[in-house]
Amino acid sequence: MRLVGIKSLKPGDILAIPISTSSGKVVLNAGIELTDSYINKINNLRINKVYIQDERFSDVDYVQSLDMVTMNKAIQVVRDAHANIHKGKALDEYIIKEIANSIVEYVREAKDKGVSILSLNSVDDYIIEHSINVAILAAFMGNRMTFNYNQLCDLVTGALIHDMGRENSKDEMPAHVQRGFDVMRKCRGLSLHSSIVCYEHHENFDGSGYPRKIKGTAISEFTRVIRVADMYDDFLHGYNNDDTPLMPHQAFEYILAASGSILDPAIVEIFRDTIVFYPNGCTVTLSNGLKGLVVKQNIGVPQRPVVRVYNDTTVLGEIDLLKTLTISIKDVQIL
Ligand SMILES: [Fe+2]
Ligand SMILES: [Fe+2]
Repeated sequence: MRLVGIKSLKPGDILAIPISTSSGKVVLNAGIELTDSYINKINNLRINKVYIQDERFSDVDYVQSLDMVTMNKAIQVVRDAHANIHKGKALDEYIIKEIANSIVEYVREAKDKGVSILSLNSVDDYIIEHSINVAILAAFMGNRMTFNYNQLCDLVTGALIHDMGRENSKDEMPAHVQRGFDVMRKCRGLSLHSSIVCYEHHENFDGSGYPRKIKGTAISEFTRVIRVADMYDDFLHGYNNDDTPLMPHQAFEYILAASGSILDPAIVEIFRDTIVFYPNGCTVTLSNGLKGLVVKQNIGVPQRPVVRVYNDTTVLGEIDLLKTLTISIKDVQIL
């Protein structure tokens, strides 16, 4: 399969991965042959890239960020929790902790696959998708930082609830940090390590954030981890960037730019080694001028995946960028 920008979709292309909404509803199934009207429909969903079938790359795997059962459960739990908070109802923290545990278990098993959040969904419920994405990214980072199981569960719980005080829109009002924390403080079953993230997640490493303008390690370690995942997910969706969704390597450029000011540089380094910059299926141009498709990852070295190079008619071979250090990725074809 191959990742393509929707502007290059043509009638006859076959969808390789279903298109869903962020609340879990499948809009178009895998295997569907696209027509002009399907392509129009995809355009209207505000998705900018999809996976299509391509026989030259039929062995290329799409690496899911979470298994479907856990993902569907997480969607339901976060949706209910957010709705309850906004109706002034009590929160069932035990259900949230249970789904956090499931995410941790998945990530501990899947750590060798690397993580790539691609925002392939149509966003109909921003908070749900955002909370789950941040939780998955934080889990992979915490795992790399060798947090133990209980620490990972508290970290992921903090990520799931970090924006619960927020309205379901891209605008973040400063009051959402206090509002979220006030709700979480009443939940006796939540660790303070998790709930403090609601209050602190807009503090900046250099002290320029809110609400208390604390800086450096005065901000809890969990919050400093979640802050990186939080910003990255916002950039992927274009929420800090004129609504233009970004590819992972582009979003990471912004993360690098914020390292040392908004973000803890040590955590940014962990993040750099954890995420997949060039997801399987993305088309790249190499520094030797050849065009290729990313077919496999070298986990821990996200800048150097394995690339299958091809010309107009033929596959020419594969280059493992980890073994061929004189060649690098020069460009990513997005549309
Ligand atoms: Fe927030
Ligand atoms: Fe957030």
